[in-house]
Amino acid sequence: MMPTPRRAVLRTPYATHGAPAEDALRAWGLHPAQVLDFSANLNPYGPPPVVQRAARGARLHRYPAPQAEPLRRALARVHGVHPAQVVVGNGSAELIAAVAWAYLRADDTVVVLTPAFGEYARVSRLAGARVVAVRASVAEGFRHDPHRVAAVLQRTRPRLVWLTHPNNPTGQPVDLPGLAAWAEAHPATLFVVDEAYGPVSPGVPSAWHLGRPNVLVLHSWTKDYALAGLRLGYALAASDVAEALRRVLPPWNVSRPALAAGLAVLTPAARRYRDATVRAWLRHKAALVAAWRVWGEHPVPGVTPFFLLPVGQATACWQRLLRYGVVVRDATSFGLPGFVRISPRRPRANARLLAVWARACAAASPPWR
Ligand SMILES: Cc1ncc(COP(=O)(O)O)c(C=O)c1O
Repeated sequence: MMPTPRRAVLRTPYATHGAPAEDALRAWGLHPAQVLDFSANLNPYGPPPVVQRAARGARLHRYPAPQAEPLRRALARVHGVHPAQVVVGNGSAELIAAVAWAYLRADDTVVVLTPAFGEYARVSRLAGARVVAVRASVAEGFRHDPHRVAAVLQRTRPRLVWLTHPNNPTGQPVDLPGLAAWAEAHPATLFVVDEAYGPVSPGVPSAWHLGRPNVLVLHSWTKDYALAGLRLGYALAASDVAEALRRVLPPWNVSRPALAAGLAVLTPAARRYRDATVRAWLRHKAALVAAWRVWGEHPVPGVTPFFLLPVGQATACWQRLLRYGVVVRDATSFGLPGFVRISPRRPRANARLLAVWARACAAASPPWR
């Protein structure tokens, strides 16, 4: 008889993510180079040249630092914390898995503020935990009511709460006074605040400034620095919490190219590039949103560069656009079958999206509405 994995492993499906893999595009009869992808929330200007050069110059024949120590020290200086409070991951997705591995036991309860990134529920279920979703509705503009969340926390007393600030896919920030109150009322609960989109959302303060020992903040360099292929993210936490994460992570989890790139990300040149390109990205969003409004559509207002667009039947809309070589994110897997999520690109690509949209809409049969 073959060895069998844990039951939770067999029961847990993969989460659905945006950015279709190149193999999937080929299977749909599309050449990846010809596809315009609006489904991945990445800075459309790509990584800063200084970061690309640093990654290319890394010495590949040596092991990297086992726990990314030089980058942790540099991040500690940037954030004014002790290096013991910093954990660096192979993408923030690895840190999300590490949190579940370090903190969750079978039959624990976790709360996820939804609609949300699929990994929180997936890693929680893998650990055998029970997932309770608190859903923000369209009618509330996808904003969570802090009192309703507080009532659920009071009732379920979870070991962990997962939330994204500002949120993917809705683009809404979390109510920080509300979060402070939840964290204070539940000192034995770890609040994991994923700020992957913080740096691309101006005017959204970080939950780290709440200064609560049971609040862990996740950062990703995938979005603002467009380093999706490199895999680099980090967490700031109380040193005991950070220590727990480091214990479960494998040694050398951050490669030498990633470490070198991470140190380059912290240079003023990289920061200036990031800030300028993110400002441009947000301008492109404003232009796209305005164009859709002129057509009588109602993009959901939010603080992130990406936004939700109500389309009636998201999967039909996604399929239709795909035929024209345009990929948007069908939000059905977020429990939003009436919405697509669009991450703007540069003006030429955005103009093509609008042109394809107009054509696909006119030709839609059966209509996606
Ligand atoms: C909210 C959120 N957190 C984390 C991630 C994963 O980012 P990383 O590339 O750092 O693993 C994503 C990616 O889509 C995301 O949307």
